[in-house]
Amino acid sequence: MPRHIGFIMDGNGRWAKKRAMPRNFGHREGAAVFKKTINWCRELGVEAATFYAFSTENWKRPEEEVNGIMELLRRYIKDIREYAKENVRFIFLGDLTPFDKDIRADLLDIMETSRGNTEFIAGVALNYGGRAEICNASRILAKKCVSGELSAEEITEELFEEMLYTNEMPPLDLVIRPSGEQRLSNFLTWQSAYAEFVFLDVLWPDFKKKDLENAIEEYAGRSRRFGGI
Ligand code: FPP
Repeated sequence: MPRHIGFIMDGNGRWAKKRAMPRNFGHREGAAVFKKTINWCRELGVEAATFYAFSTENWKRPEEEVNGIMELLRRYIKDIREYAKENVRFIFLGDLTPFDKDIRADLLDIMETSRGNTEFIAGVALNYGGRAEICNASRILAKKCVSGELSAEEITEELFEEMLYTNEMPPLDLVIRPSGEQRLSNFLTWQSAYAEFVFLDVLWPDFKKKDLENAIEEYAGRSRRFGGI
């Protein structure tokens, strides 16, 4: 069983287009699947899942679409609070400063109040980019070196990992990307170094528990050698 799964929630736009509906209709359906997937992971005994909800590049989308995703986020904050009451811990990965003040305050509050929850960890990547995360970690370490708290020689992979948003999550074992695209798109760049990938043809709003079970089965059949033999 993978301990930590990353989900690239791709294909919402195409799903809506197929139905001659606006793209935000697809995001709405995608957000519902996000909620269901948290439950499926918990039922199957996965310890943590990280969802790619909004990338550092997604601000380039039309204003109407960005606003639609922000509205969805506002709406889902209520649901996320409910999960947080069920012993689920939430971690928001990314630089939250560009979000509206009310959203940011809620996200920080949820992260803080759910910190002690132990049943499951749900990561939500918001204004997240893997490269930005690596730059951010480098910046923190560089400042420590400048202040004399740390020497450059003391920087190890383990120390670097402590500066990443995932520092309190289990190692990433599996990345699932629906929608037929076969790339990482700046998602969990450092963490995916030894992760397994499962690409599916289904669009994210059509993603079902069976797809998750099949992906886990495929993962279980793979031989992970981490560079060894
Ligand atoms: C990618 O599909 C999806 C996104 C950029 C946004 C994902 C957002 C959500 C599922 C909703 C908000 C999340 C939460 C947690 C409330 P796409 O638009 O690139 O699809 P396409 O490739 O078919 O155009």
